Amino acid sequence: ADIDLQAVHDTLVSVAFEAGRMILAANPNKISTDTKLNAVDIVTETDQAVERMVLARLRAAQPTFAFVGEESYQPGVTRVTDAPTFIVDPIDGTTNFVHGFPNACISLGVAVGRVPVVGVVYNPFQDLLFTGVKGGGGWMQRNASLEVGKGQGERVRLPLAGTPAPALGGLSSALVSIEWGSQRDGENFEVKARTFRKLAAAKEGGGGMIGGMRSLGSAALNLCACAAGQLDMYWEGGCYAWDVAAGWCILTEAGGRMVSGNPGEWETTVDSRVYLAVRGASSGQEELVKEFWDIIGD
Ligand code: IPD
Repeated sequence: ADIDLQAVHDTLVSVAFEAGRMILAANPNKISTDTKLNAVDIVTETDQAVERMVLARLRAAQPTFAFVGEESYQPGVTRVTDAPTFIVDPIDGTTNFVHGFPNACISLGVAVGRVPVVGVVYNPFQDLLFTGVKGGGGWMQRNASLEVGKGQGERVRLPLAGTPAPALGGLSSALVSIEWGSQRDGENFEVKARTFRKLAAAKEGGGGMIGGMRSLGSAALNLCACAAGQLDMYWEGGCYAWDVAAGWCILTEAGGRMVSGNPGEWETTVDSRVYLAVRGASSGQEELVKEFWDIIGD
């Protein structure tokens, strides 16, 4: 049966605001952290409580959809299938949340046939909402929740510079986000470390220097910043479907593109774990991706 994606989006927005209230209510001095993979891969009671709330709400709204969430994920068991699936990160940017650094969000995505078709990303600290529904464009709204008390901002279409977005120049004019993530050893870490080094050391003339590199600590918000046109690119190896599903839909609806973080792979899937995002632009997208791949490739 056809799915009413707009109705699913509306549900996700109200769930995102409820999650935002829970996140803001957590007392920053009392956030207790537990570790998963290692000492820097942290989870808080708030992550778990938000995911439980989200699961209950979404099960009630769409009982037939599958659910993949960061905190209920079981390695080797949980998979994103072709079925309509909610893909949820209750708090993306948990380390930022714990420090009160206001770059964290709830990320609520829906994939059908493993393609992201609805995305809702909400940063409660800035009351900033990003949304996308397949075919309906990418959107941003300031003062998005009425609870905060200010006048609700207008929904603005992304990218912020308007469509067609400005052309992309070469890497030396690009602002690029690249994240360390929490894995700090093994082959994946080596790939990340080499990638950071190659990007930072790239020379003018030899493929291009990079304009600027940032690590802001939330994959979903990186993708939204690319959708908005505030970042030109975002690369990460090692994050998961719940970090990217919602932002992916918002990005592509704003004319951006998701390709693989592995050089040469133009197609990638929501659970490939190696991603390269590039913002929407009137021209220069493919050239910039190739320039980037050239630098990080061997
Ligand atoms: C993390 C953030 C971070 C990224 C990590 C993710 P979490 O998500 O998105 O930016 O580098 O790979 O795991 O753990 O805060 O939900």
